[in-house]
Amino acid sequence: MKTLTALLGTTHPLIQAPMAGAQGAALAIAVSNASGLGSLPGAMLTPEALRTELATLSGGTQRPWNVNFFCHTPPVPDAAQEARWREALAPFYAEAGLDMAAVPAGAGRVPFSHAVADVIEPFRPPVVSFHFGLPAPDLLARVKGWGSVVLSSATTVEEARWLVAHGADAVIAQGLEAGGHRGHFLSHDLGAQMGTWALLPHIVAAVDVPVIAAGGIADAAGVAAAMALGAAGVQVGTAYLCSVEATTSALHRAALQSEAARHTALTHVFTGRPARGIVNRVMRELGPMNPAAPAFPLATAAMAPLRAHFEAQGCSDFSPLWAGQNTSGCRTLPAAEITRQLTLGFGSMATTHSEGGAIQAGGGPALESRFVVIFRAQAQALDADYSAMAAQMRELALTQFGCLDFTATTEGDQEIAVSYWPDEASIRAWKQHTDHLAAQRLGRERWYAAYSVEVAEVTRRYRHPTPSAGQGA
Ligand SMILES: Cc1cc2nc3c(=O)[nH]c(=O)nc-3n(C[C@H](O)[C@H](O)[C@H](O)COP(=O)(O)O)c2cc1C
Repeated sequence: MKTLTALLGTTHPLIQAPMAGAQGAALAIAVSNASGLGSLPGAMLTPEALRTELATLSGGTQRPWNVNFFCHTPPVPDAAQEARWREALAPFYAEAGLDMAAVPAGAGRVPFSHAVADVIEPFRPPVVSFHFGLPAPDLLARVKGWGSVVLSSATTVEEARWLVAHGADAVIAQGLEAGGHRGHFLSHDLGAQMGTWALLPHIVAAVDVPVIAAGGIADAAGVAAAMALGAAGVQVGTAYLCSVEATTSALHRAALQSEAARHTALTHVFTGRPARGIVNRVMRELGPMNPAAPAFPLATAAMAPLRAHFEAQGCSDFSPLWAGQNTSGCRTLPAAEITRQLTLGFGSMATTHSEGGAIQAGGGPALESRFVVIFRAQAQALDADYSAMAAQMRELALTQFGCLDFTATTEGDQEIAVSYWPDEASIRAWKQHTDHLAAQRLGRERWYAAYSVEVAEVTRRYRHPTPSAGQGA
């Protein structure tokens, strides 16, 4: 079986979850450029907006990226159900002084189709992911035919097996903790679904493709836990919602960073399909599940005017505040920095060269790494430029100057970065690069109170477990 990094073409097996309504190309670009897989949610975009976002995304990174779509079967509109729904919402309309008769009925999200495929085909997306199953065989064959790697979410073992049997190259195991819509498509019984840490080993044992853990992973420890349970990689959504590049509204960001975020629930009152969000007034007063809600995505139309009315008054009582159960990673940071911190959870296991070369699996730097650069710093004022520059220096070292391994970590205001090199000439060449010199100057002027650099020669090394012959030291 291929590793996930080999399948996706990324340095790290980390996918930024596509999050419709909360991000565009900017977040995806930032994550792809920081060595993860950035994702663009396509489900709510018009063909024109999709084309524009794809042009921005493909122009903004040389790295692989993902575009995501929904594959639901559009429901047949049911006038009686719609009437029941409007009746349930009538008291809120009266309170807001809104006219129910002015609300257009209609779908908000259309499933993936040949028309959408026409828009994305010229961009040859490296990865296409789906939610709610997979498209019809002819459509899927078209996507795979132009070379895209295909992913989709499974909420049960049965769905994972189905996805593999129908052509998915890897499966996203979406645990119940996950924010946003549940990806189920075989059974609508939420009782059959499991939390991430229970679901993951079941799916890993059941399928022979890479399994990506999703739901509740918000920091390096969560990433390490998923990998320990057999995941080939992780997909993280909620922890990116407060990133600088996300388009998450101010009201949503405030909720994510408040005490209210500790209470999330699955609700279908916003769209007609169960999705996890922070509990607010409309969820409390209508449900969170309400039999009057029409099928996905028809519930959205009558809810939208209430949302707009209350949001205009600075109130999120009628807004979908999508969030996973673990909001502890929601911090206002550049996505590159969030990505860097998450990838620390892979340890040296995932530190690879994107261009091939001395790849190490689970054992630290390569045998030919004779020199180590130990950089220690005390930070004074780290800003958005800092994390972008740190990621760039690391990439430069790994991709252009022969660096064999690069690990950085922070604790409080203390930072330590350790990089391994085959010779001193490579280290000198890296340090003399104009970008490195510029970073050094900014480090002195802005970011660091103090720092030290040591170049050391490795004279002895050992590790556990001892690698077998031919696998390096
Ligand atoms: C705001 C938000 C929007 C989401 N929108 C999508 C989407 O458009 N497509 C999709 O496949 N998954 C979507 N998801 C679900 C994610 O793919 C993923 O399962 C989830 O974010 C993982 O759990 P976590 O949020 O705890 O990290 C969304 C999640 C959130 C939080």
